[in-house]
Amino acid sequence: MSRILVTGGTGYIGSHTVVELIQAGYQVTIVDNLSNSNIDVLQGIEQITGVKPDFENVDCLDYKNFNAVFDRFPDIEGVIHFAASKAVGESVEKPLMYYRNNLGSLVNLLDIMNQHKVKNIVFSSSCTVYGQPDAEHLPVDETAPRKTALSPYGNTKQINEDIICDQAHAQKDLNAVILRYFNPIGAHPSALIGELPNGVPNNLLPFVTQTAAGIREKLRVFGNDYNTPDGSCIRDYIYVVDLAKAHVKAIDRMLNENGRDQVEVFNLGTGRGLSVLEIIRGFEQATGVKLNYEIVGRREGDIEQVWAKADKANNVLGWKADTPLDAILLSAWQWQQRLS
Ligand code: UD1
Repeated sequence: MSRILVTGGTGYIGSHTVVELIQAGYQVTIVDNLSNSNIDVLQGIEQITGVKPDFENVDCLDYKNFNAVFDRFPDIEGVIHFAASKAVGESVEKPLMYYRNNLGSLVNLLDIMNQHKVKNIVFSSSCTVYGQPDAEHLPVDETAPRKTALSPYGNTKQINEDIICDQAHAQKDLNAVILRYFNPIGAHPSALIGELPNGVPNNLLPFVTQTAAGIREKLRVFGNDYNTPDGSCIRDYIYVVDLAKAHVKAIDRMLNENGRDQVEVFNLGTGRGLSVLEIIRGFEQATGVKLNYEIVGRREGDIEQVWAKADKANNVLGWKADTPLDAILLSAWQWQQRLS
């Protein structure tokens, strides 16, 4: 049984990925400093899978202790690196924190992996690297140009991708898969793990479910004057469990298949763009709960529309995000009901 180290494994996408890895037969070691997650997530993972993953409360910036994890688990064959700060607005306020956390963690990780001859890394990147793609690049594929990042957070994703490419150039036995996520939403169907937003949510779905639960009075829709069919922004919302499964495919491919490129980049999206208003209507239909919302002005830094061309992941990884929207939205609501 191969062992995979998952940094940020108690976080939102990380925890769902740990579940899928365990269910696919991998052994998992989680490294997480619990800065934006809760230790109870481990229980949820155990309840779903029947297996308690090894957990190390370590900060990836702490080279000595991070290195010691690799000493304790000499059978690690690959790493999935989720651990990062991820709030766009906060990154504008605290750029140094974002550069320190997000760049320092990866630099430490690649260095330690090299020391320990661990040769496979999957990296969590984001569609933010494309910025607002030009019309001819929509839906956006992996060959579309990266645009100047609009936030320090986005910039760290671009620089992280570059760090991986540079290191792979220098270290020919390093294999990397860079996964560019579109907008992950929803929760595990068991409602035992899900997203745990810290304070007032920035992202759409947690705000929707908290409004439905009466925790927030009203959802604000940021703009209905965009150049889209209903005027609200368009995104590619992908079910977090589908997203998690793509990581297992990426790890399977790195461990078992020859003839891959040393660094591979995949978009992880559904290929379907949905507007904010379509999400609101979809939520109301899927759950039967009416949402209190109002249209307000645009949010600074928002991109008008972006959705994925996911053919490469479909064809090369043999993976497809195919969970129906109503099931996804229902899972988010069931998780919210469990929380509140
Ligand atoms: C944002 C980041 C992206 C990052 C992701 C991490 C930008 C431009 N993008 O994605 O880089 O990877 O978060 O989670 O900042 N909306 C509302 N009302 C709300 C909240 C959101 O109308 O209360 C709208 C937004 O205007 C947007 C859509 O919902 O059109 C999705 O927003 P959000 O969930 O924050 O994700 P992104 O902005 O796409």
